[in-house]
Amino acid sequence: MVFEAARYLGERWRDERSDASVAFDEALGVQTARWTLAGYEPTPPEIFEALMAALPTEAEGATFVDVGAGKGRVLLLAARHPFARVLGLELDPKLVDIAQRNLRQASDPERLVDDVSILHADATTAPWPLEPLVVFLYNPFAGPALSQMLDQLEASLEAHPRPCVIAYLNPLFLDLFMERGWSLAAEGGEDVACWAWVRASRG
Ligand SMILES: C[S@@+](CC[C@H](N)C(=O)[O-])C[C@H]1O[C@@H](n2cnc3c(N)ncnc32)[C@H](O)[C@@H]1O
Repeated sequence: MVFEAARYLGERWRDERSDASVAFDEALGVQTARWTLAGYEPTPPEIFEALMAALPTEAEGATFVDVGAGKGRVLLLAARHPFARVLGLELDPKLVDIAQRNLRQASDPERLVDDVSILHADATTAPWPLEPLVVFLYNPFAGPALSQMLDQLEASLEAHPRPCVIAYLNPLFLDLFMERGWSLAAEGGEDVACWAWVRASRG
């Protein structure tokens, strides 16, 4: 238990100082690295790119949604891919402010998407955009809240059929997707950097 906790904190400390994280923030003139006790922990840039290399659908025409967008790092990374729009949902208003500042300040020659924004919203109840969806999920919440989010998302897909895939980093509750009829489109990584792409049965 103590060993596990130390290993976990060690992983987080390493990410904070990892060359890729520091280089990303310095290159764009943003501050996305520092994690918070309230649960913000940024996705390492190289893991995001590994996930995107396995994207099981077209980025063109899709809206990318980061569920629990924190300080906006994943929004900035997603904006380097040809999505129609990039949207973050974040519950913590302080993080929303920081993300908005980062989005305003970021200077990124690799950016392809103009429409990048973050909303102060509870992702378990927020309405879903009606375009094809590429959703990103990195531990925003545990099983019950994830079920609530999926109830809302599946109802939206039922009412407005459209493609929907979810990138799930550190997929602790992957079984929940399988039980609900989602299919596994790809998987990779290892340990806490394990990831999976799942595809909605409807859409
Ligand atoms: C592990 S961080 C991931 C941050 C970002 N997606 C990334 O990968 O860099 C999870 C984030 O989810 C947010 N969160 C937790 N519950 C939420 C909810 N119900 N709705 C929206 N955001 C939530 C937390 O405040 C935190 O910023």
